Amino acid sequence: MELATVSKNTTTKFYKDVMRGLRSSPKHLDSKYFYDEHGDELFQQIMNCEDYYLPDCEMEILKTQSADISATLFATEKSLDVIELGAGDCSKSVYLLKQILRRNKSFTFFPVDISSHVIELIKEDLPKKVRGLKIYGLNGEYIEMLKKATQLSAKRKLVLFMGSNIGNMNYEQSISFLKQVRSCLNKGDYILIGFDLKKNPQIILNAYNDKQGITREFNLNLLRRINKELNADFVIGNFMHFPVYNPESGECKSYLVSICKQRVFIGDTDFIDFDEQETIDMEISTKYSINQTNEIARLSGFKPVEYFYDSKQWFVDVLWSCM
Ligand code: AVJ
Repeated sequence: MELATVSKNTTTKFYKDVMRGLRSSPKHLDSKYFYDEHGDELFQQIMNCEDYYLPDCEMEILKTQSADISATLFATEKSLDVIELGAGDCSKSVYLLKQILRRNKSFTFFPVDISSHVIELIKEDLPKKVRGLKIYGLNGEYIEMLKKATQLSAKRKLVLFMGSNIGNMNYEQSISFLKQVRSCLNKGDYILIGFDLKKNPQIILNAYNDKQGITREFNLNLLRRINKELNADFVIGNFMHFPVYNPESGECKSYLVSICKQRVFIGDTDFIDFDEQETIDMEISTKYSINQTNEIARLSGFKPVEYFYDSKQWFVDVLWSCM
């Protein structure tokens, strides 16, 4: 029974990615694996926590400027369909969807999310908030589902990629990802993309080192997940959460640091050795200057149309069109 479970687990992509990451030097894990059931819960707590300023900034933008965003789009378009990558609970996009529906009664909203649970919730709840909205939920990876949505709709597209989800990529990765997005779209299609901007570096660091220790738990939870799903024996207390922010590169990176020399088993036979002070690179959250966002647009085949800032200018949702 035990053996069968382990041998099954060793064939999963999760197992392979974990082993590849921990056998690299320096060691790393992929932040997309943070989001198991408990990870989803912890992320919700982060979103509501005082130090994590991003959701408030972007919520302000969508609440106060959705009518402007919609006016910009419909100055030149008569109708369009909307695809949201990483839709989550749609708590921000709902403001924009309402505005678009006022001008375009028969558009379709394609929410894309990696979590099937999230897609079910959207299909259940969103029609109550936006009456008359046509919803076609897509559960899966961004690019694959974007391709699917573009096969289902022949209209002009607006892609939403909000929340600074782009930040989980470094500069090169973000350009190659956005080139892929661009290749799924047609000239003249749009993307509204959320970037967290460079600001007082202490404010940024605090957002990834909150006083309540939720972000710490969020990082350590990935070790717990590996213990559970891959039958590993990480001693959680032997790792220290240590985020750093480099104000020059704009990279905020979270590390777990091994506080002692230790051996961790993953399954019954595989093990990983840690030196004292050895690091695991857990996550990158990139912060941008406006010039950098313009540069990313140019290098990936888009042209900035308009910038929508919060009142503190800490965050921007930029509307780009496809060149
Ligand atoms: C969901 C990628 C925008 O990097 O700010 C929050 C995830 N990690 N706290 C971010 C996260 C730690 C978040 N994004």
